[in-house]
Amino acid sequence: MHDAALERLRNWGAKTAIVLGSGLGALTEKIEASERIAYSEFADFPAPKVTGHAGEFALGAVNETNVLLAKGRVHLYEGYSARAVTTGIRILAAAGVKRVILTNAAGTANPDFAPGSWMMLCDHLNLTGTSPLIGAPEFIDLTDAYSSKWRAAFSRGARETGVALHEGVYAGLLGPQYETPAEVKMLRTLGADAIGMSTVLETIQARALGLEVAGFCCLTNWAAGIGEEHLSHADVLTTGQAAAADFARLLHATLK
Ligand code: HPA
Repeated sequence: MHDAALERLRNWGAKTAIVLGSGLGALTEKIEASERIAYSEFADFPAPKVTGHAGEFALGAVNETNVLLAKGRVHLYEGYSARAVTTGIRILAAAGVKRVILTNAAGTANPDFAPGSWMMLCDHLNLTGTSPLIGAPEFIDLTDAYSSKWRAAFSRGARETGVALHEGVYAGLLGPQYETPAEVKMLRTLGADAIGMSTVLETIQARALGLEVAGFCCLTNWAAGIGEEHLSHADVLTTGQAAAADFARLLHATLK
């Protein structure tokens, strides 16, 4: 992987990257992005097709430490392979990143975790039926996929700033349709607290490359059948924008 765009990412010298999910692009307003590089400048980077996903890297800083922001991602449900949806993670690793923070918008299946709050992933259920390691098999250990050391640091940051941060299990599904109430009940029985359509494959790819991973769900809605309301992508984006400020505070309190 050698091109001019990668060189620009690498020159930023960031060790930490943050992947921003649906509607969470507003976070970059709080993280001083001084320069942007479109995903399209990288050979073979698939273009996001969903609203709320900008499709660019931003060079930013948190507490005067450089970070890379990946604004927007591609999903399996856009018709891309598991390998394609994890291109961004391989680029970040090639740019010298050692730690990734993966964010997403998710439905909450846990009655104690209200929409509008954040959940840190302690583990996941990969229910996509696929893996980015297919074709280049590696039998990687996912016991501590979401770094327990880093989780402790974020919990401390949440306590210091008063940001409501739950901790739970994320179920990653194929999508793009939202779940039926029966599916949500099943996922709850399987141990899921939050449900979404991303993140799990990126975690697998990041761990295979030896990166440390933290994962966060912006809980944008009750999963189907739990609340009264019906689900819409527009509502998911609006709630995500409102919760972005909380997450920016959490990052500033933790990445020191
Ligand atoms: N289910 C799956 N993905 C989602 C949801 C949901 O309820 N909300 C946001 N992304």
